[in-house]
Amino acid sequence: MKHPLATYLLFVLLLKNISALNGVWRWECIDGLCKKEEITVETEATAQSLPECRLLCSSSAGLWPKPTGHVQVGTDLSKVNVNSIDHLGVDTDKPYAELAKAAFERFKTQIAGLVPQKSKANAGGQSLVINYDIANPDITRLTLDTKEDYALTLAETSDGRLETTITADNHFGARHGLETLSQLIIYDDLRDEVRVPKQVNITDAPAYPHRGILLDTSRNYVTVDVIKRTLDGMALSKLNSFHWHITDSHSFPFVSERLPELTAYGAYGTRKIYSPEDVAEIVHYGLVRGVRVIPEFDAPAHVGEGWQKLDYVVCFNAQPWQNYCVEPPCGQFDPTKDQLYDTLEILYGDMLKQFQPDLFHMGGDEVHFGCWNGTESIVQWMQNKNWGRSEADFVKLWDHFQNESLTRLYKQAGKQIPVIMWTSTLTQAEYLHLLPKEQYIIQIWTLGNDSQVTNLLNNGYSVILSNYDALYFDCGFAGWVTDGHNWCSPYIGWQTVYSNTPAKIAGDKKGQVLGAEATLWTEQADSASIDTRLWPRASALSEVLWSEPEGTWREAEPRILAHRERLVQNGINSDALEPEWCLQNEGNCPIGGKFH
Ligand SMILES: *[C@@H]1O[C@H](CO)[C@@H](O)[C@H](O)[C@H]1NC(C)=O
Ligand SMILES: *[C@@H]1O[C@H](CO)[C@@H](O)[C@H](O)[C@H]1NC(C)=O
Ligand SMILES: *[C@@H]1O[C@H](CO)[C@@H](O)[C@H](O)[C@H]1NC(C)=O
Ligand SMILES: *[C@@H]1O[C@H](CO)[C@@H](O)[C@H](O)[C@H]1NC(C)=O
Repeated sequence: MKHPLATYLLFVLLLKNISALNGVWRWECIDGLCKKEEITVETEATAQSLPECRLLCSSSAGLWPKPTGHVQVGTDLSKVNVNSIDHLGVDTDKPYAELAKAAFERFKTQIAGLVPQKSKANAGGQSLVINYDIANPDITRLTLDTKEDYALTLAETSDGRLETTITADNHFGARHGLETLSQLIIYDDLRDEVRVPKQVNITDAPAYPHRGILLDTSRNYVTVDVIKRTLDGMALSKLNSFHWHITDSHSFPFVSERLPELTAYGAYGTRKIYSPEDVAEIVHYGLVRGVRVIPEFDAPAHVGEGWQKLDYVVCFNAQPWQNYCVEPPCGQFDPTKDQLYDTLEILYGDMLKQFQPDLFHMGGDEVHFGCWNGTESIVQWMQNKNWGRSEADFVKLWDHFQNESLTRLYKQAGKQIPVIMWTSTLTQAEYLHLLPKEQYIIQIWTLGNDSQVTNLLNNGYSVILSNYDALYFDCGFAGWVTDGHNWCSPYIGWQTVYSNTPAKIAGDKKGQVLGAEATLWTEQADSASIDTRLWPRASALSEVLWSEPEGTWREAEPRILAHRERLVQNGINSDALEPEWCLQNEGNCPIGGKFH
């Protein structure tokens, strides 16, 4: 067979032999990993595509995040008729019906999107029926107490349809079930078919109730479309809390209905705003996807642009800025101005009305005492009260601000709404009593091993983790106030995110950890780059909080590569983690991996 023509003829013959399938590669399950093999005459009938192999080979069917209950997936797959997917069991009179309907429409779009252009996969196959069995159809809001567990079964009916039942307490659990189902339905490129296992039983529930992303839309504006895409990525990863850092010193894009001049003066442009309609759309879009929106109004620092017509902000754009704040432009409220609190009450009222949140974030980070200390009228006000000018005296001033503004927030909420605040001088041991644990949840942005963390936990606080050594996704880029790298460099890899567990940070006090948030401060990101900064790293956080995995990132690596493909498939411009070769040759790339 030295003759080139003979080799060619053999090749054509081989191709003819495997003509029932597209391609020459199949994947075989070896010890929980999919290994690439050439298709032969013997293996042709049972050859598995990579997505099929992953579904049957991985202990958790390749799902991301990994279910915490049981996962049983049968080995037979059926072709799904993507044009015949129906939703039953939704009581259209009930409050949740609209959310359920929108979630189902999204599901159908996801499945239709699996079919490549010019494929014949959308013709024929078995019908799929999805039954909902919801105990509490009145629940349309997601809170820290919402039950998000679900059970999913799939089986073939006697008349040849595929029938799924999703059992859940409410819409939020049920939509997680739909998300899981969408991951079990794969496009098999060897057969050019959309396929699903004929038998599935899954039970699942999250380990932590607060699984979030913080997005800053003040340093740079982020379009409504990109925010919605962020919510899509969250839905795909079962993250449930969108913390919206909507204003800061740099710009004020939020439109308060009764204080529109804040936006007129503070937005980067007349169109770089979030109108009440935009907010309503985003809040609703989130609820359909199992995500609640938590607004932050950060004060008394982190204010500036927008407040020009109101005489409440001191040190605005003071220079050299290092003497008055942590990044330009500076700006801090003057807590001695009584009218400030009347204005804040209006702002809080508008925010509560628009967002309908179950929690409110009051920020409270990075108050710069140099700013207040350098403002004559403030120093005078303090002297009149016989206060000194020590740190403790400025903390007293801050406490005055916090007490007055919290009173106004409660008044507008009509109750003591739970408030989140960042770690700061106020959360240091000597001042912590000013923030009673019955009223405040503390969001940690110090290093994970900071003594403040231990102290907060020992004093019984509920906390949310955003320790900057693992959850600041803006780290690792160029400096912008100087050359070199930005302050919290280096870049944080997904492996670090995956290893930053509540148990590691809080030990046996992890029960006080409500969850965590990946934060994206946008000094150096905007609509053009949000996706790649967030994804797939935020998905690493989602598995930490949903599944509380026992294995290391090495165990998760083949699945996060697959989940990254899922994000891209669903329109998220997720960054690439590794060469595609590593996706196709599981366990061959990481040092210490199975086939290494
Ligand atoms: C799912 O559960 C049903 C009912 O218990 C059982 O008959 C079926 O075998 C299970 N399927 C799998 C794939 O284990
Ligand atoms: C405020 O300024 C005074 C006068 O310069 C100084 O003595 C004091 O230490 C300053 N206080 C703080 C908290 O920096
Ligand atoms: C403000 O301080 C007063 C006096 O200490 C206290 O009684 C009140 O409860 C505080 N208000 C809030 C909202 O914490
Ligand atoms: C705390 O964490 C930082 C960053 O990860 C590390 O550099 C430092 O050595 C740690 N400190 C202690 C006391 O473990």
